[in-house]
Amino acid sequence: MCGIIGFTGNEPVKDILIDGLAQLEYRGYDSAGIALMDKKDGIILKKKTGKVAELREAAEGLNCDATCGIGHTRWATHGGVTDINAHPHRVGKVVLIHNGIIENYRELIKEYGLKNSLKSETDTEVVAALLDKFYEGNPKKTIKEVVSKLAGSFALCIMFEDVPEKIYAIRNVSPMVAAESDRGSIIASDLTALIPFSKEYFVVPEYHILTMYKDSIKVEDLKGNTVIPEKLTVNWDINSAKKGGYPYFMLKEIHEQPEALERTVAPRVKDGLPFLKEDGIDDEVFKDITGISVIACGTAMHAGLVGKAAIESMLRIPVNVEIASEFRYKDPIIDEKTLTIVLSQSGETIDTLEALRLAQRKGSKVLSIVNVKGSTIARESDYVLYTHAGPEIAVASTKAYTVQISAMYLLLCKIGLVKGILSTDDARKFIKNLEGAGEIIEKTLGMANNIEQIANHIKNATDLFYIGRGIDYTMSLEASLKLKEISYIHAEAYAAGELKHGTIALISENVPVIAIATEKDVYSKVISNIKEVKSRGAYVILVSTDDELNDSSICDKQIRIPETEKYFSVFATAVVLQLIAYYTSDAKGLDVDKPRNLAKSVTVE
Ligand code: M6R
Repeated sequence: MCGIIGFTGNEPVKDILIDGLAQLEYRGYDSAGIALMDKKDGIILKKKTGKVAELREAAEGLNCDATCGIGHTRWATHGGVTDINAHPHRVGKVVLIHNGIIENYRELIKEYGLKNSLKSETDTEVVAALLDKFYEGNPKKTIKEVVSKLAGSFALCIMFEDVPEKIYAIRNVSPMVAAESDRGSIIASDLTALIPFSKEYFVVPEYHILTMYKDSIKVEDLKGNTVIPEKLTVNWDINSAKKGGYPYFMLKEIHEQPEALERTVAPRVKDGLPFLKEDGIDDEVFKDITGISVIACGTAMHAGLVGKAAIESMLRIPVNVEIASEFRYKDPIIDEKTLTIVLSQSGETIDTLEALRLAQRKGSKVLSIVNVKGSTIARESDYVLYTHAGPEIAVASTKAYTVQISAMYLLLCKIGLVKGILSTDDARKFIKNLEGAGEIIEKTLGMANNIEQIANHIKNATDLFYIGRGIDYTMSLEASLKLKEISYIHAEAYAAGELKHGTIALISENVPVIAIATEKDVYSKVISNIKEVKSRGAYVILVSTDDELNDSSICDKQIRIPETEKYFSVFATAVVLQLIAYYTSDAKGLDVDKPRNLAKSVTVE
């Protein structure tokens, strides 16, 4: 939540910052701002409510050759969406940007009498006021002193007006990565803004002070010892964070799923069987486990539900899927015999991270499935299975979801083999199906035009229902989240057999019901449930593998997906549901990639 960037080097910084903010915009887009350190005029501030494009326009006339500056794109927490509440915040000689929440800001205002120095309603400005209050010409000493008083999460980039061309940075929990390059030193909330500068970067260690010079970055702990952070390499290329001819990142990312799956699965298959040694995951990890706890939020949690359905049914090992923000406050039943699997695209979701820490405190080993290399969740886990989806920019998660499912399936197969539940032949068959998932997706993508027409039909609905049984019900949950998130249509997912226990009262003439029926063993039951809504006037769209169901007494429209082995229909279903949400949002003329009120990476609790 909130994207931050800082650059000091030999080139004019204004466009570098604004371009970087455009890359980071998916982290928040309520307002944006920049602060430039000009040699003649000192600090120049420009901030604006709205998206980065509006800031770019507002900054057009700003002819400034400053080569050092900071920028921010905001997802509002404390204080409404106004120009004044936009970052950077300046008090006296200090100007800063912040991602996170300062939990004790009210106490700090009182204790240090800061009220009169503040113009905004934000927690962030309090930090600027505090720094200014304590500042006597020594930035690092002041930062150290102020940070010791802060409670909460923060990634801060700070400039002092009398210290030209230098940026200071410090963080707790909220992410920041930095890189040295030929063009200068750069820091940002995440890698997407760093890729144009360097493929080598480091994760800013918590509670360390960074001093960014034009040509180098110094990292020191709070005692003043110099620290050399481990350098990581990113294998994303610069084009992977661009739209590449697609109107929206979401559509591009939906289409990238076959390669994302291939990159995630292929290196983990040896002789037709799952091979996780190169990920540092030995068979020992799974030998003695008696249960699995999956922790995640949103779409990642829904990928966990798919994993649960398959693992429980194929391996008979109990799997609890926990919403991270609930897990933390329910005194979970978990111990050293439980393997905790954490799913997160960003690796920075704070609820998931805190739940991970709780699971570890309870003695459970944590294996995380993460897309962003070096992210906090990856670093704090006992084992990491990276998904290789490449950067996911659209707020609505698509390719990260299907690769998370593929990673869950790799684990399923591995656990089944280690525990002697699956025979080698069964495991080989399962992996072969997994390797074929990309092809299934390719085929499904070929149905995009048909799906676009269906989306046109539902775009004016105010309510919509997804129904299914078993694994199709878990797909419904993800489908309804996706549709709500980007089309603002109220959508609900229901277990098909449960509708008649109350919710069917909401079905009336022309209410769209999207029914998913791929589970052969419950086919006839789902058909009965579909007929129940059809006879009450619902407009039924059926997603299924069976052509015989294309009958007007069952559905008004059918989307026929490729026939697969059990558990593998999810890949085709996912694509159909993603495309329905995408085309509906697009048909409504909405900003598909940046839906209202949301941000990509949720780093507040
Ligand atoms: O980065 P994470 O996978 O931890 O994010 C979890 C959720 O915030 C995320 O999946 C969210 O639900 C998506 N925007 C849904 O499309």
